[in-house]
Amino acid sequence: MNFLDEFEGKRKRKAGFFDLVIACDSQRGMSKNNALPWRLPAEVKYFRDLTVSVSDPALKNAVIMGRKTWQSLPLKFMPLPGRLNVVLSRDSGFPVPLDVLRCASLDQALDQLSSETVDRLFVIGGADVLRHAMSHQRCSLLYLTEIKQRFDCDTFLPEYEKLFRLLSSSEPQSETGIEYIFKVYERR
Ligand SMILES: NC(=O)c1ccc[n+]([C@@H]2O[C@H](COP(=O)([O-])OP(=O)(O)OC[C@H]3O[C@@H](n4cnc5c(N)ncnc54)[C@H](OP(=O)(O)O)[C@@H]3O)[C@@H](O)[C@H]2O)c1
Repeated sequence: MNFLDEFEGKRKRKAGFFDLVIACDSQRGMSKNNALPWRLPAEVKYFRDLTVSVSDPALKNAVIMGRKTWQSLPLKFMPLPGRLNVVLSRDSGFPVPLDVLRCASLDQALDQLSSETVDRLFVIGGADVLRHAMSHQRCSLLYLTEIKQRFDCDTFLPEYEKLFRLLSSSEPQSETGIEYIFKVYERR
């Protein structure tokens, strides 16, 4: 059984809460020039498996992201398939496709999603959104892929160590010559 299946099998869900899903390097670097500086297909699959899996096939999960993260998605993954995509922007004129929800704040997104047929809520970045989401009272888990290498980055995961405690870690993973570990933290 893989790390994710094992962790999810034991976990008790907290209704009304959202989880964070992020990958960062050894210096908490997240991206450079609005793109990921690493290529890790199995890590992308982990992200997809986590954010697509639902407890009831009639439901979908929501992925909530900042406007800049939305704009960093490759065109073919815009919106991320199989999930309700929610883009946070304070610009009421920012255009999104009809099947994508634009919200002016995280709280507005959480309010709107409570009336939708959504299963789990994931906040998937970027750093600007995370700064607020991490200390939000409805934040539950942080799924963090920790890459054991330093990359040239210009966007960084805000400090999370004081807000979260480690729940579970995978075995070391390795692909394309890069080592990393899947970790799950919970809000203190
Ligand atoms: N390594 C990873 O796991 C990972 C994950 C996600 C993203 N990333 C990277 O992170 C970078 C983007 O991060 P970022 O910090 O620059 O930008 P971001 O958080 O993706 O987007 C920032 C924008 O989102 C909107 N926003 C943020 N907080 C909001 C709030 N509380 N309420 C309403 N709107 C809000 C604002 O849009 P307006 O200006 O339109 O108002 C703001 O300018 C990209 O390069 C992406 O590749 C990496």
